[in-house]
This record gives sequence, structure tokens and C-alpha cells, in this order.
Amino acid sequence: MARDDRANFGSKLGVILASAGSAVGLGNIWRFPFETGNNGGAAFILIYLVCVLLLGIPIMIAEFSIGRHSRANTAGAYQRLAPGTQWRWVGRMGVLTGFLILSYYSVVAGWTLEYIGEAAGNGFAGKTAEEFIDSFNSFVGHPFRPILWLVLFLLATHYVIVKGVEKGIEKSAKIMMPVLFLLLLVLTACSISLPGAGAGIEFLLKPDFSKVDSTVLLNATGQAFFSLSLGMGCLCTYASYFRDDTNLPRTAFNVAAIDTLVAILAGFIIFPAAFSVGIQPDAGPSLLFITLPNVFQQAFGSLPWLAVLLSLLFYVLLALASLTSTISMHEVVTAYLHEEFNLPRSKAARLVTSGCILLGIFCSLSLGVGKEYTLFGLTLFDIFDFLTAKIMLPLGGLFIALFTGWYLDKQLFRSEVTNNGTLKFAFYKTLVFVLRYIAPIGIAAIFINELGLLKG
Ligand code: PHE
Repeated sequence: MARDDRANFGSKLGVILASAGSAVGLGNIWRFPFETGNNGGAAFILIYLVCVLLLGIPIMIAEFSIGRHSRANTAGAYQRLAPGTQWRWVGRMGVLTGFLILSYYSVVAGWTLEYIGEAAGNGFAGKTAEEFIDSFNSFVGHPFRPILWLVLFLLATHYVIVKGVEKGIEKSAKIMMPVLFLLLLVLTACSISLPGAGAGIEFLLKPDFSKVDSTVLLNATGQAFFSLSLGMGCLCTYASYFRDDTNLPRTAFNVAAIDTLVAILAGFIIFPAAFSVGIQPDAGPSLLFITLPNVFQQAFGSLPWLAVLLSLLFYVLLALASLTSTISMHEVVTAYLHEEFNLPRSKAARLVTSGCILLGIFCSLSLGVGKEYTLFGLTLFDIFDFLTAKIMLPLGGLFIALFTGWYLDKQLFRSEVTNNGTLKFAFYKTLVFVLRYIAPIGIAAIFINELGLLKG
């Protein structure tokens, strides 16, 4: 496809909101709290923040530069910038990662639709914490219901993808991001004023570094990549639709700041509420879905209409935030099939959607009727999460850092970062240093440590 024929995001705000829309999603509101809970609380958050600053922002600028310069899907981008080399496998691995994440992510996104229904029907009224746990477990284990929602969610994603970049992706992000943010603020205020919430706040603010080991480091790194949509060419694909005057470092900084703020707010909603009703912080993937209904129930129980209104609004926004993320993953794979195999966009999208529905069904069933089929004690759903977030994304990030730090022409990289020298970027040297040394050595060290190669 000729460079000029490709779609573009229409405005600067659109660029930031679409990228932030990709980044903000279940990763912040569902995954961040349960990873924080599983990894000991405040110390994990501090390490996470270091990962965002030291790995996330530099690698995001690298992905933006690769994508905007090549104006191609992520696999095509490496082909253009490094023709005839093996670097194209970095792009291809990204496409595969996106496909796998989309499959299991849509399962959880589907759960949000079930909870929209519950909220609308005032289904949380009068329930105890125990009852919330039971109803979550019986829903997730049900053979059909979660699958129905999963399919519906993927079809909605498909619809936006087929409508195209500017109309679909940009418009939806512009409306829902600010509303989501406001609602999160309201819910934070409610949660921290619940009785006994103090223990949850302490859990978030008092670090205990004695629990930090290489697994915690890997989990924080993986969470940073997952939450920022990094390491799989997602923001690289989006950047291929950026305008020539988009300020890449500033956009990266803004996206990382918005994403981190939402994650921290989610922590301040979930943990005070969890401690208040006696739910263990390491409850895992069910954490969001059992603590949050409790917040609505306890904070607004005496005003049922407000409880219905706010819980409905929350789940609708959570579904929309997930949608802007699933769209971005879908786009990576669709753009790849469309541009590399010359398939019409709609046919490429149909292939991706059907493939994800199939894999998603297996992931969903692995939490219910297929529970006994495990590998190393992990269900298929957990394997997908582990493999993508903790292996493939950090590995992708490692290669992206090596590619921009060592292989890519320095002149080209500098001119992308500074828009042909028209922008000043005071940290350019630091950026190159981080991409050359800190990021690759840091990620490799975490992997090696975790694999136990240094322990024996
Ligand atoms: N960042 C998204 C979230 O936090 C998930 C995602 C991962 C999106 C990878 C795109 C690519 O929910």
C-alpha cells in the first residue's frame, strides 16, 4: 500500500486518546490489582513504577519511532527498516502475542458484560461478600454464559475494526476516557471511606521489601509491558497512523502517565474495599469482580437508585475501556494480514475474529468444565496469561530495545524522536543509553534470574 493511502488519526488529542485507550483497560483495573495483591502490595507498586519509567517510556518511544517511520504493520515495519534480516521475526512474534492476548483478554472482557446485566437488574442488592464470591465462581464455571459474552465482545471489536481507524477507534476513545477517569475518582473516594479501609491503604503504601524476589521483578516488568500495550508492536502499529507532527516523546510520557494513574486509582478502589469486607488481597483474577460489587453495595446500599446507576456506569465504562484495548490488539493482527498477505481488510478481520473466538472458547472452558486439564498446574487461561505477559511481551521489549539501540540508523531514530530536528528532546542521549544498555541488560537479567540459571 502506498504511504499516503494509509489512514491517519485526525488530531493530536485523538492520537493520545487512542494510544491511551489501548493502554488503559483490564490491565489497569483488573490485572494490576490482582498482581499487586499476589506480589505483596506497596513494594510491587514501587518496582512497577521504576519499570514504567526505565523500560516502559523508552520502549514506547522506540515503538512509536519504528511505526511512524515505516508506516506499516509491525512485521512490515521491520522488513522496511531492516530488509532481508531476521528482525522481521520480532514483528511476527508481536502479531502472535497480540492474537493470543486478544483470545484470553476477551474472556474477561466478556465477564464485564455479564456484570453490566447484573448491575442493571440491581443484582448486587443485599448480597454478602460470600455470595459475591459464589456467584462469580458459578458464572465463570458455567459452560455457555461466559462464552456467549466472549463472542459478543469479539463481534463488537470486529465491528469497530471494520469501520476503520479514525471513525471507529478515535471517536470511541475521545468520549469514554474522560468519563471513566471521573468515575474512578468517585469510586476511590467511596472505597477509602468504607469502615476498615485503612488496612488496604496501608497495604498500598507501606512497602515490605523482604518479599521481593526475581519472580516479583518479572511480574512487575510483565505487568508494565502488558498495561502499556508494549512489546508486541501494538503502539508501533498505532504510530503508523500518527501524523508527522506528533511529538513522540511527549505522547509516550502522557500515555504512560494516564495509564499509571488509572492503575493506581484502581488499587485505591480495590484494596480498601477488599480489606473492609475481609477478602484476601491475593484472591487472583476474581479480585475485581468480587470486591467491586461490594463497594457499590456497602457505599450506596441505602440509596438503591444510586447504587444501580453508578455500578451500571462503571461496568459499561470498563467494557468500553476493554474494547479500546481489544481493538488495538485486533488491529495489529488485522493490519498484518491485510498488508502482508494482500487480504481485503474485512476478510483479514474476519479471520482474526473467528480465530480468537475459537481460542477464547477454550480459555473460557478451562476455568469451568475443563478445569482438570492443566499443564504445570496452570489452566489454559493461566498459560496464555503467563506466556504472553511474562515471557513474550518482555522478550519483545528486549528485542525492540536492541533494534533501536544498536541496529537502527542513529540519524533516522533521532529525526523521528525530534520530528526532523524541529523539536527539542533533552533526554535523547539518556534514551539511547537506556535502549542500548539498561533495558536489554535489565530484562535479560530478570529472565536469567527467574529461570534459575544464576541460582544453581
Ligand atoms: N494495555 C491493555 C490493558 O491494559 C492490554 C493490551 C496489551 C493491549 C497488549 C494491547 C496490547 O488492558
